[in-house]
Amino acid sequence: SQRIKIKALLQSGETGIDVTVKGWVRAFRQNRFIALNDGSTNATLQIVVDFENTDPTLLKSITVGAAISVTGKLAASLGQGQTVEVIASTIEVLGDCDPDKYPLQLKNRPSLEYLREIAHLRFRTNTFGAIFRVRNTLSFAIHKFFNEKGFVYLHTPVITASDAEGAGEAFHVTNFDLANVPRTESGEVDYSKDFFGRSTNLTVSGQLEGELGAMALSDIYTFGPTFRAENSNTTRHLAEFWMIEPEMAFYELKDNADLAEELLKYVISYALEQNQEDLQFLNQRLLDEEKQKPQNERSELALLDKLQFCLANDFERLTYTEAIEILRESTPNKKKKFQFPVEGWGTDLQSEHERYLVEKHFKKPVILTDYPKEIKSFYMRQNDDGKTVAAMDILFPGIGEIVGGSQREERLDKLETRMDELGIPKDELWWYLDTRRFGSCPHAGFGLGFERLVLFVTGMGNIRDVIPFPRFPKNAEF
Ligand code: 4AD
Ligand code: MG
Repeated sequence: SQRIKIKALLQSGETGIDVTVKGWVRAFRQNRFIALNDGSTNATLQIVVDFENTDPTLLKSITVGAAISVTGKLAASLGQGQTVEVIASTIEVLGDCDPDKYPLQLKNRPSLEYLREIAHLRFRTNTFGAIFRVRNTLSFAIHKFFNEKGFVYLHTPVITASDAEGAGEAFHVTNFDLANVPRTESGEVDYSKDFFGRSTNLTVSGQLEGELGAMALSDIYTFGPTFRAENSNTTRHLAEFWMIEPEMAFYELKDNADLAEELLKYVISYALEQNQEDLQFLNQRLLDEEKQKPQNERSELALLDKLQFCLANDFERLTYTEAIEILRESTPNKKKKFQFPVEGWGTDLQSEHERYLVEKHFKKPVILTDYPKEIKSFYMRQNDDGKTVAAMDILFPGIGEIVGGSQREERLDKLETRMDELGIPKDELWWYLDTRRFGSCPHAGFGLGFERLVLFVTGMGNIRDVIPFPRFPKNAEF
């Protein structure tokens, strides 16, 4: 019979039929019961082995981690926690696994730190199986959301010549022989001799190209990897992360915030629907972890409650200026002041401030708007006060900034003046400025950090655990 995946088999609830299942052995008890997992679900399927009539060498090679194929009859199970089991008629070991060498053989639950060192094998644990199935669902939900709204998925380049965020964090791309880099007479690197005839880098954001698309297709979104050579030794930063960047013509800041809130709620509720079991598992995992902490450090809401709560409430919306007022008047708790005191209007918020606002003050997601222009990018639309720009950041509990976006400066003169002030070469972005010359219009967009979203939905604590192969300083092994 054709192979059936364990999730489908358990859902069908049928018995009496012959099935073939394939997967990896999670446990083998009493030479009799195999717990088989194939990654389609965290559940294991019980395989009942007729050990008296099975070749002893075969029995010996059924070890934890081995890949096997089993054919047998599906029967109702009397065992606890399972409805069906397979009474094996043939078992074939496709790939054996030396129990003395297998890193996941450990009886104790391996730590997340250890599993990061064996990222090539961590997919085989229940925790990572659940995380990556949820990640997949979220990714699908994002495409579904935008396509149902008539947005065009636009593929922006990975190699670019611009640094959209201007933060100097781009990774250079070159095919120079580094031992023999061509130089000009004055000793500077001669990029005209490089592959593209100019200096290039990995993209930090697809926004600038996305804007070009929106100025013709109306509504576009990108969803791809972005790269930043910033200090990513935190639990919230990666050197390579996936970003979703919608860009909409004829949108103003409020429309932008409405869309972002709708998107976040849509994808979270889709995951709650589609990944019930996995989210319940992750919820329980977190509860177990919380129990290890002292009472006063435990979080108030369990993961599933936190997700439901996020869906049930309007995000709080306020301006940067209002947030500064609140932060100035607050001390996080009686003993501890902010590590970085809020100096006054104009300084950027630290993540402790952001988290105070969402976790302590409002106790829900917050959309902060109208930041000082000095701390934001050149392309943001200037407000009439001459001091602020039509920026928006969305802050989430436990995460901090999950979305950054803005209405864009569509007025050529204002944009050029700002670029001059910031020393951004206009000739290099001539193509960007052309959209402001030829049929410019109000438009807006935002960037959602995909891993920060996955972090929120799975309740994990470290961004390195929600991407299959994390890139951070000194880490590009797998
Ligand atoms: O706020 P950022 O830098 O905004 C932009 O790049 C804009 N061009 C987006 C736009 O308007 N189209 O980044 C957007 C989001 C952040 O809010 C955060 O969620 C995520 O990207 N992000 C990171 N995620 C993981 N690791 C990093 N190093 C990240 N840097 C930003
Ligand atoms: Mg930002």
